Amino acid sequence: MPAEPASAHAADNANGGASGPLSAPAALRIFSGIQPTGDKHLGNYIGAIRQYVDGQDRGEALYCIVDLHALTAAHDPDALRRSVYDLTALLVAAGLDPTRCLLFRQSDVPEHTELSWILCCLTEVGRLQRMHQFRDKSVAQRELVNAGVLFYPVLQAADVLAYRAHEVPVGEDQREHLELMRDVARRFNSRFGQGGEVLVVPEHRIPEVGARIMDLQEPTRKMSTTGGSEEGTVYVLDEPEIIERKIRRAVTDSGAGIVRGADKPGVSNLIEIMAVARGCTPEEIEAQMASARGYGDLKAAVAQATVEMLAPVRDRYADLRADERALDAILAAGAQRAKAIAAATLTDVRQCVGVGALSAAPSAAIGTVGR
Ligand code: AMP
Ligand code: TRP
Repeated sequence: MPAEPASAHAADNANGGASGPLSAPAALRIFSGIQPTGDKHLGNYIGAIRQYVDGQDRGEALYCIVDLHALTAAHDPDALRRSVYDLTALLVAAGLDPTRCLLFRQSDVPEHTELSWILCCLTEVGRLQRMHQFRDKSVAQRELVNAGVLFYPVLQAADVLAYRAHEVPVGEDQREHLELMRDVARRFNSRFGQGGEVLVVPEHRIPEVGARIMDLQEPTRKMSTTGGSEEGTVYVLDEPEIIERKIRRAVTDSGAGIVRGADKPGVSNLIEIMAVARGCTPEEIEAQMASARGYGDLKAAVAQATVEMLAPVRDRYADLRADERALDAILAAGAQRAKAIAAATLTDVRQCVGVGALSAAPSAAIGTVGR
């Protein structure tokens, strides 16, 4: 799957395949986080989840269900716990294989929050206040906006930096968060690294096609759990007939051509969805649809491709979700292995910033310049 940018590590596949994901130090470590809020939709699936599945073959893959991030919005405690199970089952149904990746719950690894605090002390409040997500939410919620919304990107930075991950698969809306994360890592290294790279500066991996799937009813807005239209949002677990109905009713544009263009957001979105679902390029879809009779044909083809892509996930989901003990076991095993990695990073971080007891043997990541 093409994605941007081709990172320095992208060609490595050291830990993929038969040797098992965690048998050797990672040449390419992939990390992403996803919130256990709301029902996951086609945008999440195309922009993020498919890339997670892909990552299992490309490197050592770690995926985190970020329940602490979910606290920044009003929530019901029992519903939040259930949502973590829902999302675990969904991710496994979508193809995450706990023997080939590490899947865990953020709050099970307290190193994330400790590192987050340390990184807060390296981050300007003004920068956080200017971030799009904070500005959007603070306008929507006025003075009720909580400090967690402001510090959200710092916790996100800690999620990734605690694992010294090289690559972060995300959709387009996370670009700004990734930039902050990179800057914080660089700042940490220059302030405390003594010439070494204590924290790895990660690369984003944003797909070339499908990084921003739009709402089917309002194709100038991204498909989203909050704020989108119900009829314009296809959920991964929607029944096939519902998916067909939503796509059939998608808002298209004036003019009949089935081609992408800035003045054709509705048609462009449908072409992108179809390209991803069929595993080909948008140009190929345009060529295939050149003889179509109109948007009706396009919508029928997109609906069929989307149903075929999502049906296997839906088929597997119910059985997986029914067995909470099995889901607990996946999350517990993931957290245990994640903690071992994050704890090693935190040992170095504490050493560097001067908190905690002095360690006898500094890690190789800590430079020797100035010692
Ligand atoms: P969230 O559900 O907000 O935790 O998002 C999970 C992932 O889905 C993130 O990597 C987002 O960038 C990605 N994502 C969310 N909405 C879209 C969309 N409309 N198109 C593509 N990717 C998306
Ligand atoms: N902020 C991300 C989102 O809303 C979720 C997230 C939390 C994340 N921690 C992360 C994504 C670390 C990538 C890496 O989608």
